[in-house]
Amino acid sequence: MKISVIGTGYVGLVVGTCFAESGNDVICVDVDEAKLKVLRKGESPIYEPGLTDMLKKNIEEKRLVFTNDLESAVKKTDVIFLALPTPQAEDGSADLQHVLEASRKIGKYMNAYKVIVNKSTVPVGTGDRVRDIVAKETKHSFDVVSNPEFLKEGAAINDFMKPDRVVIGSDSAKALAVMSDLYAPFVRTGNPLILMDIHSSELTKYAANAFLATKVTFMNEVANLCERVGADVDMVRKGMGTDVRIGSQFLFAGVGYGGSCFPKDVSALLNTSRSYECELHILDAVEEANKRQKLVLVNKMKKHFGGSLKGRTIALWGLAFKPNTDDMREAPALTIIDALRREGVRIRAFDPAAMDEAKRRLGKVVKFVENNYDAVKGADALLVVTEWNEFRRPDFDRIKSLLKEPVVFGGRNIYDPKVMKEKGFTYYGIGRGR
Ligand SMILES: NC(=O)c1ccc[n+]([C@@H]2O[C@H](COP(=O)([O-])OP(=O)(O)OC[C@H]3O[C@@H](n4cnc5c(N)ncnc54)[C@H](O)[C@@H]3O)[C@@H](O)[C@H]2O)c1
Repeated sequence: MKISVIGTGYVGLVVGTCFAESGNDVICVDVDEAKLKVLRKGESPIYEPGLTDMLKKNIEEKRLVFTNDLESAVKKTDVIFLALPTPQAEDGSADLQHVLEASRKIGKYMNAYKVIVNKSTVPVGTGDRVRDIVAKETKHSFDVVSNPEFLKEGAAINDFMKPDRVVIGSDSAKALAVMSDLYAPFVRTGNPLILMDIHSSELTKYAANAFLATKVTFMNEVANLCERVGADVDMVRKGMGTDVRIGSQFLFAGVGYGGSCFPKDVSALLNTSRSYECELHILDAVEEANKRQKLVLVNKMKKHFGGSLKGRTIALWGLAFKPNTDDMREAPALTIIDALRREGVRIRAFDPAAMDEAKRRLGKVVKFVENNYDAVKGADALLVVTEWNEFRRPDFDRIKSLLKEPVVFGGRNIYDPKVMKEKGFTYYGIGRGR
C-alpha cells in the first residue's frame, strides 16, 4: 500500500517505519527541516530502542522517505495518517490547530479517493470536523478514520509490531476494509482488531489513558497512607495485583505520572466532560493528587534536613519521564528540580539518555555530570527519579563513600528498604512503611 504519515515525531516516525517494515511504501512528512535532515541520514532524532536499525534498513530498501512536500505526498499515496501534536491549550482542551490545518491542505491537494486516518489523540467530534474541512476543499471522494495509537515510549516498536489490540473507527465499509488489510500483518496471532464508530474510537483513547493515570494515582495515594499506618505498598501491590480483575501493571507507586500523554489527555477529557455537562469528577481528583505527588520527596527531604534545604547539594538520577526514552515532556524531574531550586538547592544530575534534552530545557540551572557516580560526589543526598535499569543495582559502597551523608530518596521504589538499612543508608521510599 502507498501510505503517507504527516508529522514525524514519536508516533509518526514509529508508525511510518513499522508500516514500511511490513512492505508498504511510506512517505513521512514533517515541517521541521533539521529533523528531516537527521532522518534522511538514517539517524533517529529520538531515543527509542530498536528504531534506528529498522529506520536505516527501510530507507536503504527504498520503502521509507522523508520530505517536507505535503502536496506530493498526498497525491502519491492512498492512505494518509495524521500523527500531529495535539498539545494542551490554555483552557485545558486539546489544541487541534495542527490537525485541522493539515486536513485543509490534504483536501486542497487531493487528486483521487483517499483514506484520511487520524492517529493523533483528539477529542470526540474531531473526525467530523476533519470531514467538513476536507469536503470544503475537494470534489474527490474520501473517508475519515479514527485509529488511536497505544504505543508506549521506550517499547514503541514492539507495541506497534505486536499490539494488544488495534482500534479502528469509521462509518465506511470501504475504509474499514482498507485499514483491516493494512493491519493484517500486525494481528496475525489473534490480538484483536476492534472495529467501531469514530466517536467511540476517539473516546476509547482518552478513556484508556485516563484510566491508567487513575490507576497510578490511586496507588500513589495508597502509598501515602501506607506510610501513616506502617504498611509496605510493595506488599499491598503484590497482594492486589494478583487479582485478575485488577491486574499487576501500573500499580507501582512513585513520584507521579508525567510524559507527553497522560497529563494533557486527562485534562482534555475533563474539558470534554465539562463541555457536555457530564463532568468526570474522578479526574479532577487524579490531577490534584498527581500534582501533590510530584513533591512528596522534596517534602521528605526538607523534613530530613531540619526544615530547610538552603545551600544543600542533591544528586539527581534520572531526568526522562520514564526509562528507555529521552522524552522530558511533563517529566516529574522538572517539577522536582524547580521546587529544589526554589529551596536554594544545587543539583548535580545524570540521565542515561535525556542529557541533551535536559540541557536544552534547563540550561545552566543544573550541573550536568558524566555519569551517575559523578552526580553523587560531594552531594548531601541522592534522589532517584527515573527507574533506569542501570540505577537498580549500583555500587552502594561507592555511593556511600562519595556522599557527604548516606541518605537516599527513592522516587521509584527500586531499592529494598531493609537492604539499604543493612548497607548503612538512611532510605526514604514511597509508601514503604513508617
Ligand atoms: N508520544 C506518545 O507516546 C504518544 C502515544 C500515543 C498517542 N500519541 C499522540 O500522537 C500525537 C503525536 O504525538 P507525538 O508524541 O508523536 O508528537 P511529537 O511532538 O513528537 O511529533 C509531532 C511532529 O509533527 C510535526 N509537525 C507539526 N506540525 C506539522 C505540520 N503542519 N505538518 C507536518 N508535520 C508537522 C512536528 O515537527 C513533529 O515532528 C499526539 O496527538 C499524541 O497525543 C502520542
